[in-house]
Amino acid sequence: MLVLGIETSCDDTAAALYDGERGLLAHRLFSQIETHSQYGGVVPELAARDHVRKLLPLVHEVLGRAGAGIPDLGAVAYTAGPGLVGALLVGAALSHGLAAARNIPAVGVHHMEGHLLAPMLEENRPAFPFLALLVSGGHTMLVEVSGHGRYRLLGQTLDDAVGEAFDKTAKLLGLGYPGGPAIAAAAEHGEPGRFTFPRPMTDRPGLDFSFSGLKTAVLRTVRAQKMNGSAVADISRAFQDAAVETLVIKCRRAVEETRHRRLVVAGGVGANRDLRARLAELAKSEDIEVFFPRLEFCTDNGAMIAYAGWLRARNGGGTAGGGFQVRPRWPLAELEPPA
Ligand code: KG4
Ligand code: ZN
Repeated sequence: MLVLGIETSCDDTAAALYDGERGLLAHRLFSQIETHSQYGGVVPELAARDHVRKLLPLVHEVLGRAGAGIPDLGAVAYTAGPGLVGALLVGAALSHGLAAARNIPAVGVHHMEGHLLAPMLEENRPAFPFLALLVSGGHTMLVEVSGHGRYRLLGQTLDDAVGEAFDKTAKLLGLGYPGGPAIAAAAEHGEPGRFTFPRPMTDRPGLDFSFSGLKTAVLRTVRAQKMNGSAVADISRAFQDAAVETLVIKCRRAVEETRHRRLVVAGGVGANRDLRARLAELAKSEDIEVFFPRLEFCTDNGAMIAYAGWLRARNGGGTAGGGFQVRPRWPLAELEPPA
């Protein structure tokens, strides 16, 4: 079965084609960074309008690349939530339109399930069960994954997501949007140890996170400094060290508490090289395996939605005809295994 996947939950418009027998056939993404960077963050209305402009051309592009046409599709999968309501509606409306026209199912995919399953698109894929660290602009979660659609939340952030902390810290430091890559680049030239920031909530038991205090600690340091290029680099370095070490400490704790032998890392912050290196070290010392999607499938993409949609469509998931809904807020643990 050939499935078209559509992602429009935030500031990336993406489309991909996944085929049950041939695997991933094509994927394309249009990033809206240029639209939003002048505002220092995503402007929801502009995001929705950009999706309207870019989505259909991207769909035609992936079909063209795969040498396929709309009549070849067996299902259309789209991100139904969580995300920005106006942005989600663009993908949902197109998907349901296409599905109704062709009398095929439209499958609403949970964006975080897409992230969580993204490592399955790689050659070295994790087997169930595993632990998943999901780190994006909107989420920071540790999840126990006992099978497809069987997710138990072990811990999550009580305030800001870690990606959000990268973005806000970058803004404070006058670095661009999105902040994650900007901080990582600045940190490369930073001197380790010149500044030290807290590792929030690591001194008490449990697997929850909190990142808003880290941003405040950065703010205090910025105010107390004569800011120049090296201060920006050194603070970026200290911030990244604190954020990464906090995530690694919680992953180690989750491995020790649950005794799972496989750890999956996904979501935009999973593209952070420092985090990947530190988790690879953790895997070595704990004698576990760690799985990452390739960098471009860590951040938002259509491939993960096409794949997660295919997994559900092949089991009869999705709806044909009738109305549809998007879910800007949608707890991951509410998902169920395919019928
Ligand atoms: O998964 P994603 O593309 O979108 C959401 O679902 O939120 O994640 C975006 C987040 C942003 O906060 C961005 O700053 C962060 O991922 N990010 C990074 C890196 N690349 C993207 N954070 C740290 N290091 C990176 N290299
Ligand atoms: Zn995402």
